[in-house]
Amino acid sequence: MTVLDTRTPAAAAPSIVRRARARRYLMCAPSHFQVTYAINPWMDVANAVDVDRARLQWEVLRNTYLSLGHRVDLIEPMAGQPDMVFSANGGLVVGGRAYGAKFRFAERSAEGEAYAQWLAGQGIPVSAPRQTNEGEGDFLTLSTMILAGTGFRTSLDAHIEAAEVLERPVVSLELVDPRFYHLDVAIAVLDDASGGAPADIAYYPGAFSPHSQRTLRDLFPQAVLCSEADARVLGLNAVSDGHHVVLPAAARGLAESLRGRGYTPVPVDLSEFLKSGGSVKCCTMELHR
Ligand code: ARG
Repeated sequence: MTVLDTRTPAAAAPSIVRRARARRYLMCAPSHFQVTYAINPWMDVANAVDVDRARLQWEVLRNTYLSLGHRVDLIEPMAGQPDMVFSANGGLVVGGRAYGAKFRFAERSAEGEAYAQWLAGQGIPVSAPRQTNEGEGDFLTLSTMILAGTGFRTSLDAHIEAAEVLERPVVSLELVDPRFYHLDVAIAVLDDASGGAPADIAYYPGAFSPHSQRTLRDLFPQAVLCSEADARVLGLNAVSDGHHVVLPAAARGLAESLRGRGYTPVPVDLSEFLKSGGSVKCCTMELHR
């Protein structure tokens, strides 16, 4: 007798169960967000920001985090600092300690002190940086290591300084494509491995030097490889809680790949922020335990 198996083929069902962990985020309202200077290839002062639309898009992002059960703290925006909305750049918090940011361009330098003061006010000790670094824009935290980008903004010396300050190994990666000038537009951390599962990332190989591509292949042989089309809409500028991955809505292919791995993509539209070269993750600093 032949028994017909009518269940869904195993290959179609994600085998891994993803678990969310509640996170603490810091955001900055886009009250003064504008494109008034150009420090990356996305920025064009002639391409005006729709301020009301930006505000709505940012509110949706904040409410998305709240509805997923995360804590969202807010820092007061400063007049004259149009990029302060990109809170990821304000520092790197790991294990109750912070490594302060020291911005590459004068236009953003005042933000470093503002973020450091906010963190200190939360009782988080901040190490003042000697080396140029743009916080979580170029540092991505995993439970066993920190992935660090260099090439456009953060210096290699800052990688060493971060490792010393935070007492966690740092893996340096070289960015080579100016469109992907920060590490957080070239790699998305999907699972930081703090729950015991192996760390899981997605990345766009073309953003990295051949040597760094080899490093990524060796460290993350199972990584999701993102297409150039999805990277170009800043699809990798995503925030994951281990299960839900909040990402730019235009990155449809990436969202499909994530779903196939058991993640739940949560698409949001941050098109106004793309005019400044930023999206979901840029607008979000995670205060890592
Ligand atoms: N206009 C900002 C800059 O060029 C965008 C920062 C994006 N932030 C990020 N974490 N990638 O500095």
